[in-house]
Amino acid sequence: MTSSIVKPSGKQALLIDGKAASAVAIERVAREAASLPFKPGLAVVLVGEDPASQVYVKSKGKAAQACGFHSVQHDLPATTGEPELIALVRRLNADPAIHGILVQLPLPVGIDTQKVLLTVAPEKDVDGFHPVNVGLLATGAVERALIPCTPAGALLLIEEAARFLGRDLAGAEAVIVGRSNIVGKPMANLLLAQNATVTIAHSRTRDLPAVARRADILVAAVGKPEMIRGDWIKPGALVIDVGINRVPAQGLNAEGQRKTRLVGDVAFDEALDVAGAITPVPGGVGPMTIAMLMSNTLRAAKLARGG
Ligand code: GUN
Repeated sequence: MTSSIVKPSGKQALLIDGKAASAVAIERVAREAASLPFKPGLAVVLVGEDPASQVYVKSKGKAAQACGFHSVQHDLPATTGEPELIALVRRLNADPAIHGILVQLPLPVGIDTQKVLLTVAPEKDVDGFHPVNVGLLATGAVERALIPCTPAGALLLIEEAARFLGRDLAGAEAVIVGRSNIVGKPMANLLLAQNATVTIAHSRTRDLPAVARRADILVAAVGKPEMIRGDWIKPGALVIDVGINRVPAQGLNAEGQRKTRLVGDVAFDEALDVAGAITPVPGGVGPMTIAMLMSNTLRAAKLARGG
């Protein structure tokens, strides 16, 4: 599958097209789901009216339908109490038509996120956030764990680009900038399982540019627009940009408000002249997250029926 690797004219870096890779992955899930004697079921729970969360949840529902899944969405008001949310998760745990449960984050203040995530049955935890799945991944039981969708998608893009470039992940220097539970830590465990030499760097790392420059594989997951500059990148490195940051742009929109645009954690134009391959924002890791959610739901559904 090389259709997702593109060479922009006059630039050093190859572009890794996450949209194309995601479409291929979703098609594969849909094909496999169609061959099952039952429909995989995905329940997405949204509490409150965060606009970004509403957009993400809508995309997840659309992808689930494209895969032919039984797809349900529970929209709860921002005033929902923790006991009510936990009761819903318990009902979904007990529902045999539901194989995957996703509680969209962030939850409104006043709700203990960790408590809610602990309530999701580990075998339905398609986000891979439950400590059972975190522990399976951390102990190298990658085959048994449900793996968080964003790092799982990033790994697929890394594998594809490495294959295209004829590089081995074993022994490669991987530097992950960002130590979140959702991306940085699981990404590190996934790359370790591929025998890369892994460093997790973060806001307290001394001489971050020098650490980043060691990387054959550089994963940026800090949530700071264009923080990683071109001269932080080792020539030829594979750069995976997980950041999605909305920043002010030139001009006004139809409502007279300042336009905005999405940028990653990497200064993309600078990186294009140095990297060996890079994911764009938007259209890189983002679409892969949704594809991996579909893949996790299919896996959970098959496991529920005995594999
Ligand atoms: N909010 C932002 N990213 C995610 C994600 O991957 N899963 C959930 N549940 N919420 C999110």
